[in-house]
Amino acid sequence: MSVWLVTPILQHLVQSAMAAAGFEVRSTIVRLYYGFRGGDRPKNAEAEFPEVCVSPKGAYEPWMLFRKPISERTVAENLRKWKTGALRRLAADKPLPDAISGGRTPKREEAIADHPCLKPQHFMRILVRALLPLGQGTILDPFMGAGSTIAAADAVGYDAVGLELDAEYFALAQESIPGLAALYPGFRGEEIEVELNGHVEHFQANTQMALALAESSTSYRAQDGRRR
Ligand SMILES: C[S@@+](CC[C@H](N)C(=O)[O-])C[C@H]1O[C@@H](n2cnc3c(N)ncnc32)[C@H](O)[C@@H]1O
Repeated sequence: MSVWLVTPILQHLVQSAMAAAGFEVRSTIVRLYYGFRGGDRPKNAEAEFPEVCVSPKGAYEPWMLFRKPISERTVAENLRKWKTGALRRLAADKPLPDAISGGRTPKREEAIADHPCLKPQHFMRILVRALLPLGQGTILDPFMGAGSTIAAADAVGYDAVGLELDAEYFALAQESIPGLAALYPGFRGEEIEVELNGHVEHFQANTQMALALAESSTSYRAQDGRRR
């Protein structure tokens, strides 16, 4: 399974190109966060059209999932033979949600790795962990930057290989990866709640995330207890 991040407006182009190249489009994991992506108001006419926006203000990043078509008859057979072709749940009793509250990359991570595209360890560990369905194999990041993906793989306990064109970024990644991987010891991407910079995200029972993580919604249970 592979994952690609792009700005939402170009998502359809990447998905079409990957599908044309023979990959299956396998949904998208959305990182919810409030960035500065705008294009919000009509340029140079903000005062004239105060209530107009040219596109909705960005509050998410799409991390698109693609799968090389499985070679075996079923996913189960593919898993047995190649250990690939699916995703890893958060836990046996916890599904992997397709929207994860990402927040900004914490300052303590930016202090370790000064790269414009550094991604938060919280989100990256959940994502990277999910990519190896049986926890076996190797993560490849062909565009490594300062190494958030490789550091996340390291923290989760996976083998990983990173490639980077820019020699300075490569050197930065070599320095940064051990520091990023050492943050939040014990957090290996198997849960959504995590303490970051002293802030703990809690999901109340009736929030959308809690409902997504619940195996079965009570609203689908009949009075007699049978699932409908
Ligand atoms: C968006 S950043 C990657 C962030 C990274 N995946 C992470 O986990 O933090 C993209 C990086 O790809 C690098 N890059 C661009 N073209 C490349 C190429 N052809 N081969 C390898 N790296 C490349 C850029 O120098 C840049 O550092």
